[in-house]
Amino acid sequence: MTKISAAITGIASYVPDYILTNEELEKMIDTNDEWIMSRTGIKERHILKGEGLGTSFMGAKAVQALLEKTNTKPEEVELLICATTTPDMIFPATANIICFEVGINNAFSYDMQAACSGFLYALTAASQFIETGKYKKVIVVGADKMSSIIDYTDRSTCIIFGDGAGAVMLEPNTEGLGIQDSILKSDGAGWVHLHQKAGGSRRPPTLETVQNKEHFVYQEGSAVFKHAVKAMSDTAYELMQRNNLIADDIAFLVPHQANKRIIDATAARMGLNEDKVMLTIHKYGNTTNATIPLCISDYEKQLKKGDNLVLAAFGGGFTWGAMYIKWAYNA
Ligand code: UT7
Repeated sequence: MTKISAAITGIASYVPDYILTNEELEKMIDTNDEWIMSRTGIKERHILKGEGLGTSFMGAKAVQALLEKTNTKPEEVELLICATTTPDMIFPATANIICFEVGINNAFSYDMQAACSGFLYALTAASQFIETGKYKKVIVVGADKMSSIIDYTDRSTCIIFGDGAGAVMLEPNTEGLGIQDSILKSDGAGWVHLHQKAGGSRRPPTLETVQNKEHFVYQEGSAVFKHAVKAMSDTAYELMQRNNLIADDIAFLVPHQANKRIIDATAARMGLNEDKVMLTIHKYGNTTNATIPLCISDYEKQLKKGDNLVLAAFGGGFTWGAMYIKWAYNA
């Protein structure tokens, strides 16, 4: 029997219009462009403004564009997974709302929570439904409105994050293209270094939690940085080794965009030059679940059928992982 693999057959993305620059941040907090650029590589990020607009708004924009681009009718979609850390509401799932917004009414849908590694987790989960032959059209969305959980008086976090969304179509492939392999890991001991203190079942919202600013991202930056460098580069390297890939075989590394220095360390471990590293951190910052699809969307025109891509991510949890994809189409 011919082996079925899950291939990305289309990609689309959305970032909101409003751009928050380093110069603007300089007026809000004690920081400067030179510090932000040298420590993170971020120049600007997009922020979703507008009353009542949540993550689903951006996710739906990306999915709508994807349906149009791939000539897919909403009713053809069988499953949609939304990787997000900033759902519209604790429940129902943002994936359910995205489906409703774009008219996908013949599918099941659910959210994936794995912080910045969520898109890789969701892509791996989605690929199983295709590989078994059960489904023919599955959409994976990575979307986050990080600005909704950022304290814009905390200079150690507000400079990093931005808002955005990306979506991919997964379909069966019998030419050996698409998702080849992935390594995914988690270690809950890492939660202490990166989390949101209140709002969940452990510490429900109260006046006190709001006054204490416990609904914002809490991050011990340097601890997260050290874990991220090691986990992301080790896993990407392990994936290369187990698939007999050398640097020359790889067209692009698609790294989660949290910090340019983490990206550089991963590329160095893999033996890749900068021209083989997808980079969008300067213009979008860290959009959590959206960084990887935003990268692939921006670089889509440079990709050729058969190109080897290595995706890698690290995030809160801790969660991390890497994925090897053979790109399936010429844009
Ligand atoms: O995507 C999810 C996973 N997250 C990550 O991967 C993030 C990983 N961590 C990082 O990217 C970095 O740790 C940060 C960018 C968050 C911080 O960079 P850092 O080089 O680790 O700086 P630091 O936290 O060690 O702080 C160094 C100094 C401190 O001053 P003192 O104590 O040395 O006087 C900070 O107060 O830099 C100061 N600082 C700033 N200065 C100017 C912190 N934030 C700022 C700022 N502007 N925005």
